Order: sequence, then structure tokens, then C-alpha cells
Amino acid sequence: MHQFNFRISLVLTMLIMVFFAPTEGFSQDGAKIFKGNCASCHKPSTQKLIGPGLQGIRDRWPDEAKLIAWVKNSQEFLKTGDAYANKLYEQYGKSIMPAFALSDEEVIAVIDWANKGGDAPAPAATADQANTGGVSTDSNAQADSDSYFLVLIGIAVLLIILISVLGSVKRSLETLVNEKKGIIVEPKPVLSPLQKFKYWSSQNKKIVAIASLLLVSWVLKLGWDGLMGVGVYQGYQPEQPIKFSHELHAGQNQIACVYCHSGVEKSKHANIPSANVCMNCHAYIQQGPNYGTEEISKIYAALDYNPETRVYGNNPKPIQWVRVHNLPDHVYFNHSQHVTVGKIECAQCHGPIDSMAVVEQYSPLTMGWCINCHRETEVKFEGNDYYEDLHKKFMEDSDYKKGDVFTVEKIGGLECSKCHY
Ligand code: HEC
Ligand code: HEC
Ligand code: HEC
Ligand code: HEC
Ligand code: HEC
Ligand code: HEC
Repeated sequence: MHQFNFRISLVLTMLIMVFFAPTEGFSQDGAKIFKGNCASCHKPSTQKLIGPGLQGIRDRWPDEAKLIAWVKNSQEFLKTGDAYANKLYEQYGKSIMPAFALSDEEVIAVIDWANKGGDAPAPAATADQANTGGVSTDSNAQADSDSYFLVLIGIAVLLIILISVLGSVKRSLETLVNEKKGIIVEPKPVLSPLQKFKYWSSQNKKIVAIASLLLVSWVLKLGWDGLMGVGVYQGYQPEQPIKFSHELHAGQNQIACVYCHSGVEKSKHANIPSANVCMNCHAYIQQGPNYGTEEISKIYAALDYNPETRVYGNNPKPIQWVRVHNLPDHVYFNHSQHVTVGKIECAQCHGPIDSMAVVEQYSPLTMGWCINCHRETEVKFEGNDYYEDLHKKFMEDSDYKKGDVFTVEKIGGLECSKCHY
């Protein structure tokens, strides 16, 4: 009897799993695919964003095959001359819905999920809040550790004051007690702390010698660090006026560095992109995964653009990006020389920018840093007539030994005038 029950429940459980597990899986995938691909333009409700709300979409597209074809490549589908789709396209001001490399099953899963109005909206909202919360605590970590340090110092100062106060209270209590008892204490010869210290140190000469040596070297080291640190801002990571993330753009979305920093291959400076470059995408993408509309709307504010009417006002003001890297005026540095001629990757000098949510100065940017690389890095002379000539001369040089490499140093990369005006 008992066993029979057990078996029945086992079979029932398995049946339930078989029937319900796949649908559960699909609906989760649907939500995920939607958030990853569609959420920037569509809402899983009847509300309009860039494109129409997708709740009840199956009523508008009775033919499932057409619907799938549309989502996979709307521009191709429009060419079939489908009347409804073309009318919709006109209606939405010919906004292009991008093509998606999704399988039929994946498209069906998104449509299933959006058609029924998505999940209840509440959990999504709390998830977003949790996300932003996480980010802001991160950036506060530094400030927290600083104030923690200050509190520790405060406690130490209080303790010292307390100990000295207690000490003097003890002394006056003792004299009081002695006076009461009528004991007249022979006044001890009173030694000033300095005299005490002199006496003690005359007895302990070795300890004093070691301690003074330590003290002097500590002071020297502080001074040295201070001097070497002047003007070195490695790790500098200022907060920017818009929470623009390289991790999101260059990392996750694989946007090439030169798409935005278009001057870097051609000129001395790598420019910071203007807000118009942002609009190539953000005319459509009005919501971000972490900050919703808050940060992206700052781009619109800078351009005096109204995302609802899509009209530009005439009161734009540039975004005040905070400069991270900054060489002194007396140094000449040229990006195109390094990136285009020298074929050096951005990451070699700037570190893993594509995984930084906030840009940080990765290299020290000191003279020693430039020089070290010029000493060690080989010049890419292939295909450059001028350098190939120089390379030949270098090989023919009487000082040339087998194994010597044609480094930047050999083309004059250590000459003061190359880097200093
Ligand atoms: C860059 C913005 C954008 C993205 C991303 C986007 N769409 Fe669209 N979608 C549109 C626009 C705009 C329209 C209106 C037609 C047009 O202009 O092409 C539209 C129309 C549609 C329609 C027809 C709506 C109707 O009322 O008949 C469906 C279905 C649809 N999109 C599904 C999706 C799905 C699914 C995804 C994600 C896999 C997606 N879209 C991603 C912009 C987008
Ligand atoms: C979508 C546009 C965009 C892309 C793509 C992009 N950047 Fe940026 N970059 C910016 C903006 C905007 C700033 C200024 C705000 C900031 O510092 O975050 C910036 C700042 C920087 C800075 C700091 C500049 C300074 O003030 O010293 C460096 C270095 C940098 N980017 C390198 C890169 C590298 C390397 C890549 C490719 C892996 C890249 N960027 C891709 C837009 C972009
Ligand atoms: C080539 C396309 C492209 C360009 C150019 C571009 N972005 Fe983006 N941006 C994106 C994409 C894609 C997202 C992520 C949208 C998503 O995942 O929902 C995004 C998201 C954002 C977010 C939202 C961050 C969040 O987590 O909420 C901000 C802010 C942003 N971009 C700022 C900028 C700025 C400022 C510029 C110009 C310097 C810029 N973007 C240029 C494609 C672009
Ligand atoms: C050889 C090292 C090196 C390489 C390689 C390099 N950078 Fe830089 N980058 C620097 C230095 C040094 C500065 C500071 C320049 C200054 O203050 O004048 C800088 C500054 C910048 C700036 C701030 C604007 C400016 O020009 O001052 C941006 C943006 C930038 N780099 C982007 C890039 C990108 C994108 C790449 C790759 C295509 C790249 N860098 C490759 C060393 C390098
Ligand atoms: C990651 C290695 C690297 C770093 C770091 C680096 N350089 Fe260079 N630099 C090179 C290479 C490689 C070349 C040779 C490019 C070529 O083929 O012309 C070069 C060439 C130069 C030249 C031209 C030299 C000539 O004789 O034509 C100057 C000037 C220069 N760098 C300045 C700097 C300054 C200033 C810094 C530091 C702020 C710096 N470089 C940091 C690798 C580096
Ligand atoms: C490869 C490039 C490069 C070469 C070659 C070079 N310098 Fe520099 N120099 C720099 C950079 C970069 C700085 C700025 C360092 C900083 O801000 O910390 C600098 C700074 C200086 C300073 C200011 C002190 C300081 O540390 O800020 C002096 C002085 C100086 N260089 C002298 C020279 C002399 C003399 C030579 C020739 C023997 C020379 N430099 C060759 C890149 C170079």
C-alpha cells in the first residue's frame, strides 16, 4: 500500500515535469530574449515605445509564419509587399527595426511571452532598482573606506586624551589621600619627560640607534614617494556627467573604438565623440539596462532634443566630459604615430577599457613609462620604405650584433626633442 502510493506519486511527478518543464523553459527564454533584443524599442504591453506595444500581437498577425519572418528580418519582409507591414512601416516614420539572428523557436518564445503582456511588471521594476543600488554602492566603496579610516584616527585620539586625563586624576587623588593621612611625602625629584627620556636612552643606546635609523628612512621614503608621485595620476577615475559605460558599448555591444574616437588613427588626438554620434543609436534606444531613461535623457538634454516629437530645439550645450588622461604641455604625444604606424593596440596603453564601466587611467604616463616601451618595442618596419631603409642601415652598422632588435630607440625614440617641445 505504502509502496504503491510512493510509485504513483513518482510517476505523477515525472509526468508533471515532462508536461510543464518545457513551457516553463520557453517562457523564461522569451523574457530573456525580449530584454536582450526588443526591450529598447518595444514594451510587452499595449504602450508604444519606438515601436508598437506587443501585447496581443497575435491578433494583428494571424499568420504565424509571416510574424516570424518579420521579426527575423523586417526589411526583407517589407519587400514581399505585405500591405499591413508596409502600412505599419509608414506609420512609424520608416523607423527601421533591425534584423535578428534568432531561431524560429526563439522568436515564438518571445512572441508567446510578449503576446500575453509579459510578466507582472512589479518584479521587473524591483530588479532594476536592485541593479542601480548595486552600482551606486560600488562607487561609494572608496569614500566608505576613507571615512572608516578617519573614524579609527578619531578613536585613537580620544583614547590618548582619556588615558592622560585618567593619569592626572590618579595623581591628584594620591596626593589628596596622603594629605588626609597626614603623611608628608618627601617630594620626589621631579624629572621632566625630556630628562626621563635622556636618562632612559643613555641606558639603551642600541635601541635608540635602530629606532632613529628607521625613523629617518621612513621620512626619506615619504618624501621620495611624494616627489615621484607629483603629476602621476595612475588609477585616476573621475565621475562623468553621463554614466557612459565602455563595458556596455565597447564590450557587450562590440562597438569599435574608432567608431567613436574617429580621430585616433589619423591625428595626434583621439577625440571624444560629440552627442550627435550618440544619436546614431540613441534616437532609437531610449532606455538602458541599468538606469532606464535617466542617463540617456541627458544626451537629449544636451542636444535640446525632444524624444517624443523627435524635434531638436535651438539651445544645445556640450556635454562636459571630465578629462581622464592628461600629459603636461611640454610633452608631444601622437596617437596616429602609435596606433597606425606603430600598430600598438589601445589596450596596451589604456588597459582593458572594454571592461571598464568608468574609464580609469591605467598606465602611469610618466617619462620612464614612455622610454621603457621605446627601449623594448620593435619597430614594425615591414611595408614601410623609410623604416626598411633604416633597418638595413641598422643591420649593416659595425656595432650590430646578432640578436640585436630594431627597437624604437634605434629610430631616435629616446631623443629629448622627439617628445619635448
Ligand atoms: C531599434 C528598435 C526596434 C527593436 C530593437 C525591435 N523592434 Fe520591433 N519594431 C520596431 C518598429 C519601429 C516597428 C514598427 C514598424 C517599423 O517601423 O518597422 C516594429 C514592429 C514590430 C512588430 C509589429 C508590430 C505590430 O503592431 O504589428 C513586431 C511583432 C515586432 N516589432 C517584434 C519585435 C521583436 C520580437 C523584437 C526583438 C527580437 C523587436 N521587434 C525589436 C522597432 C524595433
Ligand atoms: C559609443 C562610443 C564610444 C566607444 C565605442 C568607445 N568610446 Fe572611449 N569614450 C567615449 C566617451 C563618450 C568618452 C568620455 C567619457 C568617459 O571618459 O567615459 C570616452 C573616453 C575614453 C577614454 C578616456 C579619455 C580621457 O578623458 O582621457 C579612453 C582612453 C577611451 N575612451 C578609450 C576607448 C577605447 C580603447 C575604446 C575601444 C575599446 C573606446 N574608447 C570605445 C566614447 C566611446
Ligand atoms: C552604435 C550604437 C551606440 C552609440 C553610438 C552609442 N550608444 Fe549608448 N547604448 C547603445 C546600446 C546598444 C545600449 C544598451 C541598450 C540596452 O541594452 O538596452 C546603450 C546604452 C546606453 C546608456 C544606458 C546605460 C544604462 O545602463 O542604462 C547610456 C547612458 C548610453 N548608452 C550613453 C551613450 C552616449 C553618451 C553615447 C555617445 C557618446 C552613446 N551611448 C553612443 C548603443 C550605442
Ligand atoms: C602608446 C600608448 C597609447 C596607445 C596605443 C593609445 N593611446 Fe590613447 N592616450 C595615450 C596617452 C599618453 C594619452 C594622453 C594624451 C595627452 O594628454 O595629450 C591618451 C589619450 C587618449 C584619449 C583622450 C583624448 C586625447 O587624445 O588626449 C582618448 C579618447 C584615447 N587616448 C583613446 C585611445 C584609443 C581609442 C586608442 C586605440 C585606437 C588609443 N587611445 C591608443 C596613450 C595611448
Ligand atoms: C606601448 C609602447 C609605447 C609607449 C608606452 C609609448 N610609445 Fe612612443 N612609440 C612606440 C612605437 C612602437 C613607436 C614607433 C612608431 C613608428 O613605427 O614610427 C613610437 C614612436 C614614438 C615617437 C616618434 C619617434 C620617432 O623617432 O619618430 C614619439 C615622439 C613617441 N613615440 C612619443 C611617446 C610618448 C611621449 C610616450 C609616453 C607618453 C610614448 N611614446 C609611449 C611605442 C610606445
Ligand atoms: C619617449 C618620450 C620622452 C623622451 C624621449 C624624453 N622625455 Fe622627458 N618627459 C616625457 C614625459 C611623458 C614627461 C612627463 C612625465 C610626467 O608628467 O610625469 C616628461 C617629463 C620631463 C621633464 C619634467 C620632469 C618631470 O618628471 O615631469 C623633464 C625635465 C624631462 N622630461 C627631460 C627630458 C630630457 C632631458 C630628455 C632627453 C634625455 C627627455 N626628457 C626625453 C617623455 C619623454
